[in-house]
Order: sequence, then C-alpha cells, then structure tokens
Amino acid sequence: MRIYVVNSYDEMSKQAANIVASQVTLKPNSVLGLATGGTPVGMYKQLVEMYQKGDVDFKQVTTFNLDEYYPLSRENANSYYHYMYTNLFKHINVPGDHINIPNGMAKDVIVECQTYEKNIESAGGIDLQVLGIGPNGHIGFNEPDVKFEAGTHLVKLDEHTIEANARFFDSKEEVPTEAISMGIRTIMRAKKIILLANGESKAKVIKEMVSGDISPKVPASILQLHGDVTVIVDQEAAKELKNCSQFALCM
Ligand code: PGA
Repeated sequence: MRIYVVNSYDEMSKQAANIVASQVTLKPNSVLGLATGGTPVGMYKQLVEMYQKGDVDFKQVTTFNLDEYYPLSRENANSYYHYMYTNLFKHINVPGDHINIPNGMAKDVIVECQTYEKNIESAGGIDLQVLGIGPNGHIGFNEPDVKFEAGTHLVKLDEHTIEANARFFDSKEEVPTEAISMGIRTIMRAKKIILLANGESKAKVIKEMVSGDISPKVPASILQLHGDVTVIVDQEAAKELKNCSQFALCM
C-alpha cells in the first residue's frame, strides 16, 4: 500500500485526477471503476478541466460504477446515475454506451448483478478502481458484516451509512435502505486501486484499514491484500497514522 498524505482536499483531488489521467494516457481504452459520494467530486472537477484543456481524452474509455441505490430511478437527483452525469459524464467524451452503472430499477436484481459482473469481465476487467471509504469502513456499499460478499449483490444499507448519506436527501427517511454494489472480489480483481479520504471523520477508519485486522467488520481492510493500492489522504484523515514507515511509500 502506498500512502500519500497531502495538505488539502484540493491537493488530494489533483493527485487522484493525475493518476486517472495517466492511466487513460498510457492505456486509452482503459476500464475505469468509479466511485460517488462527496469525496471524489473534486477529482471529477479536475478531470473535466483536464479534458477541456485537451490534456486527456476519454473516447475509448469504459466505466463501471461501484454501486447504485435500490430502488431508485436514474432520473432521481440522488441517484448515482444522476451524480455521475452531473459531475463527470456530461462534460467529457466517454461514449454513452461505454458507461455502466447498476440499474436501480432492475426488475430482477439477481440477473442485474450477474450481468454487471459478466460485463466487467467481457470488458477485460477493471484497470483502475477509484474508491472512497465510509466512516464504517465500507468500500462501494460493502457494509461491515460477518463475511466478505464476493460479487455484485443487493445490499441492505447499514444504519450508519443511511445517516451519513442523509445529508444528500431531504430527510433520512428518503434514503433508500438497499443498494446494488460491486462485491469485494469485484473490487479486489481491479489491477490498480486508488482510495481517497479527507477529513477527521475518516481518521479512525483509515488507521484500521491500513494497519488493523483484515476483517469483514472493516471491509476496506481487505485492501491490505491487494498488490497495487494507492491511498491519498489529507492531514486530517491521516491523523491517526503514526508509523508511516511501515508502508511502501508514505509522503
Ligand atoms: P463520502 O462517502 O465520500 O460521501 O464520504 C464515501 C463512501 O461512503 O464511500
């Protein structure tokens, strides 16, 4: 695990955007795994600016998002479909038919999950997966549990997640209680992973993720077993990381 401790949210966003843009430059037909939430908004803004300046071209890129609320239609302003178009897709040139987001209105969720997995495989697997992390240690919507869930699946959202995400909705009651999420195996199969976190509310979980027991109780802890993970955190989220020297790179 490489850990970069940066000074600000802005610096975290720029560094993450540079990694994504480098990936696309080196392999123009990259398959990107994308995340939603408050954390990557700045990274998407940077990528849009880079695209507008002609520094990166997405025309051969394919994307797979980590998750989507269920049931929720793509027209709903709180859907991750809506988030992705607003923050990224409508500003760049990734072709519409290369964009994959779980269907929050799928009639048959099991088929939807199986098809999502198959489509990732047919695209050649994910080259670079972007992750945020929930204060409870979730990645995607893989909530703390007694076991790791392997493939894309229907999740019952954790009470903490519903509370954390209520800020985006008019009220807590409006937050869907379920979601479709890539599983831990889906995420771990990505060739490279970058995980972003900022703010003090993530400090405890970042410490658990990098140096705690590998356990489904902190789903992100499984990333200790992945060979190519880059963590970019601001000073506040890095607050509880005392012994940085144990990691491959800590700057
Ligand atoms: P956040 O969510 O970026 O809104 O903090 C992260 C996550 O839940 O994965």
